[in-house]
Amino acid sequence: MYKFVIHGGKKLNGEVEVSGAKNALLGLLPATILANGEYTFLNSPELLDAQSMIKLLVNMGEEIEFSNHTIKVKNNGLKILEAPYEFVKKMRASIYVLGPTLSRYGYAKVSMPGGCAWGPRPINLHLEAIQKLGASVEIDQGYIIAKADRLNGAKIVFNIPSVGATVNTIMAAVYAKGTTMISNAAIEPEVTAIAEFLVKMGAKISGIGTKFIEIEGVDELHSADEVVIPDRIEAGTLLVAGAITKGNVKVTKCNPNHLDALLTKLTDAGFTIQTGEDFVELKSNDKILPVNVETEVYPGFPTDMQAQWISLMTIAEGASEVTDNIYHDRFNHVPELNRLGANIIVKGNTAFVKGVEKLKGAKVMSTDLRASASLVLAGLIAEGTTEVLRIYHLDRGYEKIEAKLKKLGAEIERVQTDEY
Ligand code: EPU
Repeated sequence: MYKFVIHGGKKLNGEVEVSGAKNALLGLLPATILANGEYTFLNSPELLDAQSMIKLLVNMGEEIEFSNHTIKVKNNGLKILEAPYEFVKKMRASIYVLGPTLSRYGYAKVSMPGGCAWGPRPINLHLEAIQKLGASVEIDQGYIIAKADRLNGAKIVFNIPSVGATVNTIMAAVYAKGTTMISNAAIEPEVTAIAEFLVKMGAKISGIGTKFIEIEGVDELHSADEVVIPDRIEAGTLLVAGAITKGNVKVTKCNPNHLDALLTKLTDAGFTIQTGEDFVELKSNDKILPVNVETEVYPGFPTDMQAQWISLMTIAEGASEVTDNIYHDRFNHVPELNRLGANIIVKGNTAFVKGVEKLKGAKVMSTDLRASASLVLAGLIAEGTTEVLRIYHLDRGYEKIEAKLKKLGAEIERVQTDEY
């Protein structure tokens, strides 16, 4: 077990590169189930979640190698059409094997994901969609068992634009007979990237990047290669790292178009933002102004940046409100931030943050990825020493975050510990 030991108070300055997007890769890899052949994914982020997805696909019968940010997949046909509990409990995105396995093999057995660290995360939309496509779905001993001889195209209207349900439905529909229309589809860049990859594999998909996606079923797909898009949440987290320390940072190898909502809020908070084709530069001014945020589906402010924004607001010059409209309970970081001296009260799905002059170091821990990121950010400015426990959460979704922060001047060390 490891922890981060952070000596706060260093302004971050300099340049840092963003890695490939976790949530794009977690959809791209299961897409390889759809066709035999060889695949290469460049710019793959070296993350625990990537390893988890690889282990699951290897268990199902694929051959996969991962080195130097390159994942090579060889698929000669799956041997096991199942995602067992031990995989799904580690990573909910394992549910992504449901759509492609069912679509190609007419059968899939996937452990039902339970609640996650911050509350319920239902998958009803995934299941309703495959049922609309003609699959029978049964829940037996904690497993979803989906069956269909061949799926049939259908009209699917989501009441919520779910990222996961959109991806799973597209992957299920690529081989369905006839046309599938998805209305109120999610338009997150990761969904777009996965759909574009499926087109490279021979799928017929139109309306990509819009709320109306149409899929014309095909009889055959083939393997393809891809470069994973940059991780917009990692980019956002690094920008907030610069902002919270009142430093000047340039975040490179990112796509600024994917960061519009965050960049607008950073500007409102008094930072000067400059963008180029693949970089964002943030310059700090004297003050951090309080700015309210409400999370929304893309292109709104991402729920995956909510915790980090609260950290920034803890030292703003005044009071702000941060509302999470996507996950109403996603506030595990708040009590831990308060242990560092922040002044935050949560009522319903809103955190009321009163800016304080300074935070003070303490031992903190958290139960999920973005909450852990917010604690590291707070540690960067807390007076004295902050220890962040259970950093395996961070390793799930941030590639060597301590190395990137160190490069910008942070004093942060990964230290082995027995503490849990
Ligand atoms: N929802 C339902 N029913 C469903 C599916 C979703 O009610 O069947 C609701 C959820 O409860 C939530 C909303 O719809 O209120 C949106 O959830 P969505 O399905 O879009 O989330 P997801 O696909 O489970 C992905 C990311 C999350 C990110 C969310 C929201 C991946 C692997 N995960 O999850 O990423 O928070 O979209 O943008 O893409 C993270 O990276 O830290 C992370 C949690």
